[in-house]
Amino acid sequence: MWAPLRDDLRRGRGGGPGRMAEPGAIVDAVGRALGGGGALDGARVVVTAGPTREAVDAVRFVGNRSSGKMGYALARTSWLRGAEVTLITGPAAVAAPYGVKVRGVETALEMRDAVLAEVGEADVAIHAAAVADYRPVSPSADKIKRGVAEEELIVRMVANPDIATESARLMKAGSVSAGFALETADLVERAGEKLAAKGFDLIVANRAGEADAGFDTDTNRVTILGRDMPPRQLPLMSKFAVAGSIMDLIEDRLRQGGRG
Ligand code: C5P
Repeated sequence: MWAPLRDDLRRGRGGGPGRMAEPGAIVDAVGRALGGGGALDGARVVVTAGPTREAVDAVRFVGNRSSGKMGYALARTSWLRGAEVTLITGPAAVAAPYGVKVRGVETALEMRDAVLAEVGEADVAIHAAAVADYRPVSPSADKIKRGVAEEELIVRMVANPDIATESARLMKAGSVSAGFALETADLVERAGEKLAAKGFDLIVANRAGEADAGFDTDTNRVTILGRDMPPRQLPLMSKFAVAGSIMDLIEDRLRQGGRG
């Protein structure tokens, strides 16, 4: 068998003599063996995905509604195009893509530590995680019992660090950073503000509250904004196809020398 394909199939899940690899893994390993040769070939890509969970007590948490599907599609597409991919993910509802190194985390602080440890070496960082903006200041070690408060239970929260902003400062020359903006109103305007504030080269804006786009769906309808680029509105597409369009733009930027 062709060496790169054989090595990919031996690595990770499904390995071992006489055992057939998962059909999905075979399809992806063949896809990677046939693809590549572009700007992502051999590039190091870090992707964040999924929600974070911030403990309120021993059994409860605060988190965002996020399936992880968009981030996982980006990690898979990057690997298919020849990249070495690390996926840093909160608890997600989807299976890890074949070939990708997965670092599972739970809280925003854990995600931040994992990302900051990787991002300095990365050629591409994609921040697709729905990070909880706040965490309870002092989570209870025990389960909070019913009736501890008469009518209201007040949980004090503190802001989490912005992982994308901290990462942008650590990224090397020539790299590319991309993020997401999920908005309910003034989509393009707010996404444009986040593009600048968080040091992204590209930002993918999508609207919250649509039945066929946003979290938990298999499809998405996005507008991509970039530094020195007019907003590009894409039609409703599968998240895998959206990931392809995003990675095309990231490859263009890598070829143009990234963030200088
Ligand atoms: O400010 P907002 O949460 O809408 O920004 C979304 C973008 O910022 C996403 O790319 C998300 O992954 C990233 N983010 C982050 N750390 C946070 C909050 C958001 O990296 N604490």
